[in-house]
Amino acid sequence: MNKDYYILAIETSCDETAAAIIKNGREIITNIVASQIESHKRFGGVVPEIASRHHVEQITFVLDQAITEAEMTWDEIDAIAVTEGPGLVGALIIGVNAAKAIAFAKGKPLIPVHHIAGHIYANQLENEFKFPLLALIVSGGHTELIVMKEHGKYEVIGETLDDAAGEAFDKVARVLDLPYPGGPRIDKLAKEGSETIEFPRAWLEKDSYNFSFSGLKSAVINYIHNKKQKNESINEADIATSFQASVVDVLTEKTYKAAIEYDVKQVIVAGGVAANSGLRTALEERFKDSQIPLMIPPLYLCTDNAAMIGAAASVLYEKEVFADWDLNANPGLILK
Ligand code: KG4
Ligand code: ZN
Repeated sequence: MNKDYYILAIETSCDETAAAIIKNGREIITNIVASQIESHKRFGGVVPEIASRHHVEQITFVLDQAITEAEMTWDEIDAIAVTEGPGLVGALIIGVNAAKAIAFAKGKPLIPVHHIAGHIYANQLENEFKFPLLALIVSGGHTELIVMKEHGKYEVIGETLDDAAGEAFDKVARVLDLPYPGGPRIDKLAKEGSETIEFPRAWLEKDSYNFSFSGLKSAVINYIHNKKQKNESINEADIATSFQASVVDVLTEKTYKAAIEYDVKQVIVAGGVAANSGLRTALEERFKDSQIPLMIPPLYLCTDNAAMIGAAASVLYEKEVFADWDLNANPGLILK
């Protein structure tokens, strides 16, 4: 492809209303994210109906801002990309319909993007991919290990059987009376404690790259209940440190083992939990002597954003894989 091209991307799968303009799938021109965290905080988690309502209110502003900040006109945009799924259905619908409306009105091709492909391609905004690569996706809704041998082809080699890593962080934070989203709070608290409690590590059957975090979550809840029943005091910081150590151990070891087995040239980490300082340190330490480069994007590209959707869309744009006008939100979309 000789000519520069610009993709306007939209992401509304959960609680961020986001729009971005990306040049050639690699360069961020604008990246607008309207977060709803404040509205969901008092409920201790994302409320789907509230998320949908916010997306409706915000989407036009966010799109306008993306175009205005880029100092571009709609004529200069080559395609419209949008997260098709997975995610909250009511939230996805807002983005998909906004994208369809613009694409139709402005006569642009429409590109459907898988949310996890987006998280992976957040890395392409920082580094060039070298195949085969291994991606560890750890977010509020997903925990997956994915091998990629070429652009746009994804082999899921492991995934969570129950809670996602971020979900476990958020649920344990709730038991410790920490506000939503709990991940960053636990991360901070964990720095003040010591690993004095032995919580389980779910390695699962031998050679499995799957994950399970619900047993760990229950172990933490039981530990706190037992202590309270016995009128014993609990050390919140030690609980946070011990819980985080268990999550980080399993994520790090399985990622390392998969990287060796699949003989990958790169390991990339993405999703909100990639912001966890314990995980970042443990992965860096584990891969230090391995000759396999480890890439973790900056925090603003780890959490949900539309820049990553524009980056992932570039692969489809170059292959001219476009959606029809009957494109719909697909909350259970599978990554292939
Ligand atoms: O990728 P993301 O922004 O949204 C989803 O697609 O889910 O991830 C949000 C998740 C939340 O569960 C949040 O608690 C977690 O990422 N998170 C963290 C940290 N920062 C965000 N978890 C652990 N440590 C952090 N520093
Ligand atoms: Zn996400």
